[in-house]
Amino acid sequence: MCGIVGAVAQRNITPILIEGLKRLEYRGYDSCGIALHTNGQLQRSRSTARVAELEKQIEQSGLCGFTGIAHTRWATHGAPSTDNAHPHFSRERIALVHNGIIENHEELRAELSALGYVFTSQTDTEVIAHLVDHLYHGDLFDTLQQAVKRLHGAYAIAVFCRDEPHRVVGARQGSPLIVGVGQGENFLASDAMAIAGITDQIIYLEEGDVVDLQLQRCWIVDADGRPVQREVRTVHAHTGAADLGPYRHYMQKEIFEQPRAIGDTLEGVTGIMPELFGDQAYGVFQKIDSLLILACGTSYYAGLTAKYWIESIAKIPVQVEVASEYRYRDSVPNPSTLVVTISQSGETADTLAALKHARSLGMHHTLTICNVATSAMARECELAYITRAGVEVGVASTKAFTTQLAALFLLTLALAQSKGRLNVEQEASHLKAMRHLPVAISAVLALEPQIIAWSEDFAKYENALFLGRGMHYPIALEGALKLKEISYIHAEAYPAGELKHGPLALVTKEMPVVTVAPKDGLLEKLKSNMQEVRARGGELYVFADADTHISSGEGIHVIRLPENYGQLSPILHTVALQLLAYHTALARGTDVDKPRNLAKSVTVE
Ligand code: M6R
Repeated sequence: MCGIVGAVAQRNITPILIEGLKRLEYRGYDSCGIALHTNGQLQRSRSTARVAELEKQIEQSGLCGFTGIAHTRWATHGAPSTDNAHPHFSRERIALVHNGIIENHEELRAELSALGYVFTSQTDTEVIAHLVDHLYHGDLFDTLQQAVKRLHGAYAIAVFCRDEPHRVVGARQGSPLIVGVGQGENFLASDAMAIAGITDQIIYLEEGDVVDLQLQRCWIVDADGRPVQREVRTVHAHTGAADLGPYRHYMQKEIFEQPRAIGDTLEGVTGIMPELFGDQAYGVFQKIDSLLILACGTSYYAGLTAKYWIESIAKIPVQVEVASEYRYRDSVPNPSTLVVTISQSGETADTLAALKHARSLGMHHTLTICNVATSAMARECELAYITRAGVEVGVASTKAFTTQLAALFLLTLALAQSKGRLNVEQEASHLKAMRHLPVAISAVLALEPQIIAWSEDFAKYENALFLGRGMHYPIALEGALKLKEISYIHAEAYPAGELKHGPLALVTKEMPVVTVAPKDGLLEKLKSNMQEVRARGGELYVFADADTHISSGEGIHVIRLPENYGQLSPILHTVALQLLAYHTALARGTDVDKPRNLAKSVTVE
């Protein structure tokens, strides 16, 4: 989703801004642009192509400057076009970029149009640029503080003014924005990775903050205009994704990295103890009597899987909610609940808002499972477990999901232990299975050639059903999401027992039915559901554990996974479904790592 980089320095900052945009590319975007203060004027270059094209454009025009801002845009208001790309100018005096959504933009647009401002885009962002220009009185920092009071919605803003050549001003409310403090130069960015290698001195702006950046000054005021000191942290951010190596796409690379990612996530776990989740965890786990899990997309499915584990092993009731629903619905709060957010990025706007909403209802025990230690989620929650998946570039989440599952299984065991429901033998046996996961995943990855053979047929379909039961139902949901996200095949998942309550009507030979078939207590029930499909001419593609005795035959294709892996089996079945989605998308020729319309980091609601 949109990315921001800004700088005020005593050197040409064009390469810094372009490199920053490249590092923000993974978030997803459909246009990009840069504006610089050059020879007493505002100059800009914008493109609906990739950042590399913008870079060429800039090289040709020779655009350079010491003060400037840059942006990758993921369209919300107005189609992806050069006119809608940021930075937006107002009267050749103000240049501004924005991430977020301004809810009262129509009202402001009408007001500013009446004042004579001419709009050249359909964006809500241009409204802010004109508003800043309208309020400008010679001091951009003060002006932006006045301007944000008129905005309803979410924003991270970076702005500079033709008349103040050594100043960039930023503001944050609901969308991430960080400051990079340099020596005689300062930076703004959506995340620390964008400016890694330029400075590692990072300030995470808080909600409502407005920041004034000059060559020797970094001055912050809070939402009430009071000067505040924010901690400067030393952050060793990754400089982005590593090379693809032998892989064709980041998604494929990330699928194959899972043995390493899970190993890293569990590294140092020598025993089960609440303190794995933070110093205060022991006390918190003693007090709570239920869990409320809040997340979106794939992370939500990780939460659904955890519900099966936690209720079965720790015997604690769990409610799992889609964050964007929870934040707006009336619910019955329980102050003794542990609120758990799950997020790869730690910046998902809906999940952050749902967390805030839960707190406002009096639920103050919070824990996050997150892949980014410096993210808003990790900073805002009382307790945390940071997964060590490493940077995930593919928009379709893979290694982030399985590492979330590993962390959630650890949480299950820690909760069970703190409630006296995990004895020493059980702890040792679960730990042994967890340590063996990297090897078990490698065995599933070795099935790739068989999955490729399936995917060639599978790519011809336009619809698919996914079935699972029990804790593998969320895995069927995840398999369907992966497939639709990157191959654009319409896919839906159902708990297999629901088939006869409606979806069976869809089953014909044109409707492949992918079935997750572990050897568990529900296997015989699942086999009956598979018969229901076959009886209607449906074609079954079954991922079956080796000990299920399900064999290939007419209308039934079987790939055997290793023997049932007990409670951790969902992790192994996920890997097989990821490979099916990846190779099907490859066969259909879609843009696997950057599927249409989607962004990696969803920082607007
Ligand atoms: O960063 P988060 O885990 O909070 O992101 C949540 C979803 O946007 C994300 O999982 C999304 O569904 C993925 N593209 C799925 O592959």
